[in-house]
Amino acid sequence: MSIEVIPTGAAAGAEIRGVDLSQPLEDATFAAIDDAYNTHGVIFFRDQRIAPPQQVAFTRLFGEIEFNIFSERWSVPGSPEIVVVSNITQDGQPIGIKRAGENWHSDMCYTARPPRGTMLYALEIPNLGGLPLGDTEFASAAVAWDNLPDALRRRIEGRYATFDFTGRKRAFPPKQSEIDRNPPVRHPIVRTHPHTGRKCLYAMRDDCTAIEGMAQAEAELLIAALADHIVKPAHIYRHQWWVGDVLMWDNCTVQHRAIQDYDMPLRRLMHRTTMGGSVPV
Ligand code: SIN
Repeated sequence: MSIEVIPTGAAAGAEIRGVDLSQPLEDATFAAIDDAYNTHGVIFFRDQRIAPPQQVAFTRLFGEIEFNIFSERWSVPGSPEIVVVSNITQDGQPIGIKRAGENWHSDMCYTARPPRGTMLYALEIPNLGGLPLGDTEFASAAVAWDNLPDALRRRIEGRYATFDFTGRKRAFPPKQSEIDRNPPVRHPIVRTHPHTGRKCLYAMRDDCTAIEGMAQAEAELLIAALADHIVKPAHIYRHQWWVGDVLMWDNCTVQHRAIQDYDMPLRRLMHRTTMGGSVPV
């Protein structure tokens, strides 16, 4: 296979052409994909046709599959590694998690070892008279760090924030056992990417509830300012989905949010897998 990596021209993202993900990948092809993933933070492949076992096998190339609170509720029958993300209801019951990720976040930042990244395979995309809806936005936390003034960099580097599972209002109320399994954790506000060595801001509203050694009012102002800085328009790539897209993002390099501009009878159906990561440093 000869692959092409075409950057989006935005602060993150590249399209990869010349790969059929339903076929086994040669080592050199995988190495080129892995490199593009690390470099661009978001990569996507158009026009793919993959069955659940192929998505699981492709995900495993990047890290062990991570199970999260959604897996227990909405996994694909026969494929517990894949979570259904969808607004579709059948017989009055949701078939997947609805309104997943509607606010800016980095996946499972409330865990001690957040996932390396997440993959979505687009099976149905809402379309209003030819206009695709349900885009996903990605904000580069690496470019946001690059664009931060030196004085503010010096003020935050080496500092740790508290990440609290209960800080964010979720698409559904978590069970007490899930809250008990996810006590607050601490992570650096400035992370170093484990593969590229790039520095990335790691702060967001709701999940980040405090900064160690800082008065609460000052910490809240700082978290809000950093969260807003990360998602400035200059840092964003907005992905307009096509059916057959396989897209994956890196949870250190980018934050993301799903645009909720559609509802039934317009249907959106995604299969999501998540790959294990390392402790942020
Ligand atoms: C998510 O945050 O995992 C969902 C993103 C999407 O559905 O576009």
